[in-house]
Amino acid sequence: MKSRKQLRGRLNGKVAFVTGGGQGIGAAVAKALAREGALVAVIDLTLDTAAGVAKEIADEGGEALGIACDVADRDQVAMAVDQVDAAWGRIDILVNNAGITRTAMLHKMTPQQWDKVIAVHLTGAFNCVQAVAPGMMERKYGRIIYVTSAAGVLGTIGQINYSAAKAGILGMTKSTARELARYNITANAIAPGAATPMTEVIRTDERFKEKYLERIPLGRWAEPEEIAPVFVFFASDASAYVTGQILAADGGMTIY
Ligand SMILES: NC(=O)c1ccc[n+]([C@@H]2O[C@H](COP(=O)([O-])OP(=O)(O)OC[C@H]3O[C@@H](n4cnc5c(N)ncnc54)[C@H](O)[C@@H]3O)[C@@H](O)[C@H]2O)c1
Repeated sequence: MKSRKQLRGRLNGKVAFVTGGGQGIGAAVAKALAREGALVAVIDLTLDTAAGVAKEIADEGGEALGIACDVADRDQVAMAVDQVDAAWGRIDILVNNAGITRTAMLHKMTPQQWDKVIAVHLTGAFNCVQAVAPGMMERKYGRIIYVTSAAGVLGTIGQINYSAAKAGILGMTKSTARELARYNITANAIAPGAATPMTEVIRTDERFKEKYLERIPLGRWAEPEEIAPVFVFFASDASAYVTGQILAADGGMTIY
């Protein structure tokens, strides 16, 4: 097994903060960034989950830190950022990926379902970008990657909360890009589509699976590992002159 120092990556020595890194897309992205030489803080709700992915990265010869943090909680985000600063001195790459769904038709959606989804996606992404941006501004370098969804672009039935949050993330991406460009910080958004625990019901339940598959022009669900390179692109200097953009990596579900 190669040690990290032996690896020649596009992100050698860069420090990444990946929220929702404990499973699904976030875990695949954390591993992909680490394989490119980044030092990765894996952020998730429980330490077990975050540390599990950090260990997998370490077992591959990479360097990672698992941190328990609810992104919707400002104090926890501040503590997580402090922990990363203490370990590695900075954060160069933020992947605002943590997410949840609370599905219900709009006339039945509870205020709690609405609030929870807005809190995790919008307030959570805001908490993280506000915590890491000052350091990036000081060092005049940063890569911020937001995660949106076809739901935010096209709308979905039973997800008015999630669609609103993901559409809001598009606005956040564009504002972040305009505000921080002068500091050599880029901000872009990815609309992914992948086989993860979040999409398990629509991929496997007989009532939904055909209908959802028909919406994907490429005709199949990707594994998270297949879309992780798109995150690497936005994290790396290959995208140094790209900011404020939305890239759908969802088999063509979002064509507009
Ligand atoms: N899977 C898809 O097809 C798809 C499509 C469009 C958008 N997305 C978006 O991609 C991102 C990742 O989704 P996924 O499919 O990997 O989902 P997932 O449910 O498999 O993983 C999400 C991770 O986020 C973590 N998380 C949830 N709330 C958190 C919080 N408050 N603080 C910290 N961590 C938290 C969870 O514990 C989990 O590990 C989400 O933002 C999701 O909305 C996914």
